[in-house]
Order: sequence, then C-alpha cells, then structure tokens
Amino acid sequence: MPKFSKRAKSIKIEKKAKMLFQSLKGMHDILPADQLWWDKVKKISQDIADFYNFSRIDTPILESAEIFEKSTGSATDIVEKQMYYIKSKGKDRLALRPEGTAGIVRAYFEHGLSRLSQPLKLYYFGPFFRYESPQAGRYRQFYQVGFEILGGENDPVYDAQIILAGYRLIEELKIKNLTVEINSLGCKNCRLIYRRKLQDYYRKLSVKICKDCRRRLSLNPLRLLDCKNENCQAIKTKAPIMLDNLCSACRNHFRLVLEYLDELNLSYILNPYLVRGLDYYNRTVFEFTAEKLKFSLGGGGRYDDLGEMLGAKKGSLPAIGNSLGVERLIEAMKERGIDVVPKSKTKVFLIQIGQPAKKRAFCLIEEFRKSGVKVLESLGRESLNSQLRIADKEGAAIALILGQREVFEDSIIIRDMKSGAQETVPLAKVVEEVRKRIR
Ligand code: HAM
Repeated sequence: MPKFSKRAKSIKIEKKAKMLFQSLKGMHDILPADQLWWDKVKKISQDIADFYNFSRIDTPILESAEIFEKSTGSATDIVEKQMYYIKSKGKDRLALRPEGTAGIVRAYFEHGLSRLSQPLKLYYFGPFFRYESPQAGRYRQFYQVGFEILGGENDPVYDAQIILAGYRLIEELKIKNLTVEINSLGCKNCRLIYRRKLQDYYRKLSVKICKDCRRRLSLNPLRLLDCKNENCQAIKTKAPIMLDNLCSACRNHFRLVLEYLDELNLSYILNPYLVRGLDYYNRTVFEFTAEKLKFSLGGGGRYDDLGEMLGAKKGSLPAIGNSLGVERLIEAMKERGIDVVPKSKTKVFLIQIGQPAKKRAFCLIEEFRKSGVKVLESLGRESLNSQLRIADKEGAAIALILGQREVFEDSIIIRDMKSGAQETVPLAKVVEEVRKRIR
C-alpha cells in the first residue's frame, strides 16, 4: 500500500530476508503513517451515515458458507473461486465473509429487525476476504464501508438515496471526476425472458467465445456481458440488452430512479453491460468509477429476493445497498494528492530531570489531560539535552522543564523552542499559562 522510496525499499527487502514471517499474500498491515487516511474515511463515512440516518451494524466475520452460496450465488467467481472456507472442529461449513449484504439480511431476520421502523437504514465498516490475484486495488483482505436500506416500500426513491449516499461519501473525500454507471437487471420474470434471448444469441456464436463464456452460457448467462476477453467483448456489442427487455413495472421503476438522480443533477451513464458479480441483484445496479482509476470504487444494487434466498417469505424484504472499497478510496485520494494531514496544533513537550521531577511530571501530565491539553514526553530519558533534541524533532513550540530545583521551589520553566527564551512560573499555574500560549 504505502509507496516506498528506493532506500526504504532496500531496507524493507533486507529486513524481509532476515524475517521468519511476513503478512500473507494480498493482506496488508495498516501502518501508523497510514492511519490518518483510514481515520478520514471512517470519519466521513460516519458523517454520511449520521446525516442520512443510517445506524451502525457489525456482523461476524465468520458465517455459515451456505449463506453466501445461496445468495451471492454458487456459480459466481466470488463463491466458486474466491471464498475462504474454514474447517472447524465440528462439522460446520464456515466461510470468511466475502461481502456484507448477505450477513446483514441474515441478522435482519434473526433479530426481528422488521419490528423496528421501516425502512431500516444500516451501515457498516469492516474487513472482507476474497482469494483473488492481488494487484493494484485488489487484495485478499480488504475493507468496505457499506449502506443498506431494508424493508418498507419497494420505492425507487431509496435506489436514488443509496446511490446518493455513496456518491456524497466519495465527493466528501474530494475524489473528483466521479461517474455513476447504472443499469437495470429487471425482475425474475423479465430477466428470465431476457436470459433466453441472450442464450439464443450466444449459442449461435458459441465457437467464437472463450472457454469461460461457454460455461457461463448455461450456468450464468448474464455474466457473458462481463467477460474481458477481446473476442467476447466484440461479440457483446451486438447482444440483446436488458434495458430493451424490461417489463413495464421494472421500466417504470428504473425511469423513476433516473428522474430522482436528474432532480439532483447527479450525472450517470447508462451501461447496459453492467451486471455485477453477485447473483442476488434485481432491478437497479450501479457502480462508482472515477477518471484514470483502473478499478471501481464501489457498487451495489437492489436485492429484493435475497431474503427469500435465505428462507424468508417471498417478497418480504425489498432492499437496496452499496459498498465502497476503503483501500481503493485511499489509493484514489493518494493518487490525486489529496491531503489528510490535520492542521498542526502547537505542540508542548514536558522535560524532567531527576527522580523527584520525573514523579512530579508523571502527575502533571494528568493535570494537562484533564484540561484537554496534549503534552509529549520522553519519560524514560534523563538528560536535558537528549530531551530537548526530541522536543525539537517533534516540532514542539513549547518545552516545559522540570528539574530538582523547580520541584523544590514548586515552579517550572517554560521555554519558547524557537527563540530559546525561558520564563519560570509557579507549577500550580503552568496548565493555565500553557493554555494561554497555545490559544
Ligand atoms: P462488490 O462490487 O463485490 O459488491 O464490492 C464492492 C466494492 O468493494 C468494490 O467496488 C471494491 O471497491 C471493493 N472490493 C471488492 N473486492 C475487492 C478486493 N479484492 N480488494 C479491494 N477492494 C475490493 C459487494 O460486495 C456488495 N455487497 C455491494 C452491495 C451492498 N450490494 C448491495 N449492498
């Protein structure tokens, strides 16, 4: 994730050679220097959730594998090729969650969340796992922030609101030139008719399509439109599209979604080939992309049949959601030079010399804490010079110096690190005095 300089790279390689263990392929540590970026994405996600009234939900990382097989789809890449299955001592078939939506629907029914005011708006932020070939923006452990609207009416306004929540989050992170690609996959009925038309079209060309697509033709024909093979891409351009085959209810639903987006002047591109890699979608599907990025930042769609796939009553849970890849958001911000360093506050460094001063300094830090002033220290060090050097390195504007004499006289020295000017003040007044100076 972080970009290393040549020297840093060579140090890293040297260290790697001596180390017994390293993080697993496609999994990464989030180092202290990167935490500011993560904090920023978390903060903006929380702000968006608060504004649009989404409550936080956290579901377990381990779920029954069947949940994903039944909802995400056993013939999808995510389940077929990328899911981490876990063997437990019992006979349970478990999986590390590859995505969040299925677990949230499970939790919705398990805890009777339909009793709460509907629709229920939920959001989450956490790690997900897919056994992929790692490359830029693609990891085996990655984080998503996601928003889901469950229950209530099957109203196109919620489709627009879910798209809006994701859009605003990316916008608030200052990632510009954002595009929403959108399509409708219709309902079970019109999709069935469309699937047949698609299969008829591709069957005639089956010798020209790739091996994977020949398999998709019977197993999961919509995924034919997603193939990256050059020949298949050319063939796709003449394939029938779902938008021409929507039933009137689905067409109306989609028209209204677009009208809501138009009301907001939120620009979108109709992409008739957008099918998404998960089987639970119906009607609206969408993805967020931004200029020059090789990957999508997020995506989502409507999943009115997911409840039924997990055993609930037919039509009992209209729902729509999105999720955004946190690493991808951060990479996009870094690539665009978007800065997240907070405005620097005046730093205060407390220096102590000798055992009685160390004890007094230890307590003084707590007095600063109570009044909300952060102080840096290096309590393990003894000498004035070494502590001054650290204060300087940390960029402290003020150093407080407490030696044996000061402890004896109940006083402390305040040193202006820039000018070197020093003043002695009573210890009882130092917090107040520092507050005045940093204001
Ligand atoms: P998804 O498109 O599979 O949808 O993933 C959503 C986002 O997660 C992607 O657009 C990408 O930013 C990020 N992502 C996915 N895989 C990886 C990876 N291997 N490495 C890094 N980032 C990745 C879902 O997961 C659905 N649950 C979205 C949804 C929510 N649909 C309805 N509600």
